[in-house]
Amino acid sequence: MKIVYQGKTKTGKEIIIRYPQIGDEKEMWRYINELSKEKTFVRFQGEEILFEDEKKYLSSLLKQIEEKKSITLLVFWSEKLVAISGINMKDKTEKHVGIFGISVAKNFRGEGIGKLLMEKVFEEAKKEIPQLKIVTLEVYQKNSIARRVYEGFGFKEYGLLPNGIMRDNTFEDAILMYENIK
Ligand SMILES: CC(C)(COP(=O)(O)OP(=O)(O)OC[C@H]1O[C@@H](n2cnc3c(N)ncnc32)[C@H](O)[C@@H]1OP(=O)(O)O)[C@@H](O)C(=O)NCCC(=O)NCCS
Repeated sequence: MKIVYQGKTKTGKEIIIRYPQIGDEKEMWRYINELSKEKTFVRFQGEEILFEDEKKYLSSLLKQIEEKKSITLLVFWSEKLVAISGINMKDKTEKHVGIFGISVAKNFRGEGIGKLLMEKVFEEAKKEIPQLKIVTLEVYQKNSIARRVYEGFGFKEYGLLPNGIMRDNTFEDAILMYENIK
């Protein structure tokens, strides 16, 4: 098990931040379906993910991590998965660019997990993926909490795609952000 952090959150919950491994598919499946149902600012908006598909996703993710094309970290509180974040590398002429994503389970937001996890993902990415030069992300224009967090991490806005992203079956504007990695 590759642990990158073990300690307490702001409210005293004991958490572990670690790389994914075989066997995590069940918790990941439960987590992503719960998040999808919430229809929050994430890619899944109510659709149900099949266990078989989650299993395939995990095995391709493990391969990507092995090949240093992804950093993905999971946060566990006891046996429960409560947050996921990562940077996934693009390819070919964009080999130096990685795409960032993050989510924290509803009942675990606002206690420092998101910021801590992001810090660890960037630390690991700098260590493990030397070709990483630029991190990009897309965020709902309305997601002011996430936008503020990203700005705090040094992300800068470089565009807005009108109606670029769906939320609960309506089109919303997407803000594009980037950060240079030194
Ligand atoms: C955005 C998200 C990842 C942040 O993670 P988190 O664990 O809740 O954030 P943290 O507790 O580390 O807080 C980060 C900052 O946001 C602020 N914040 C968090 N929740 C907040 C809230 N409900 N209202 C106002 N500010 C809030 C914190 O005060 C903190 O700022 P500070 O360092 O200046 O005090 C999380 O809320 C989430 O998963 N939301 C739903 C999905 C999502 O939006 N993902 C991002 C997609 S682009």
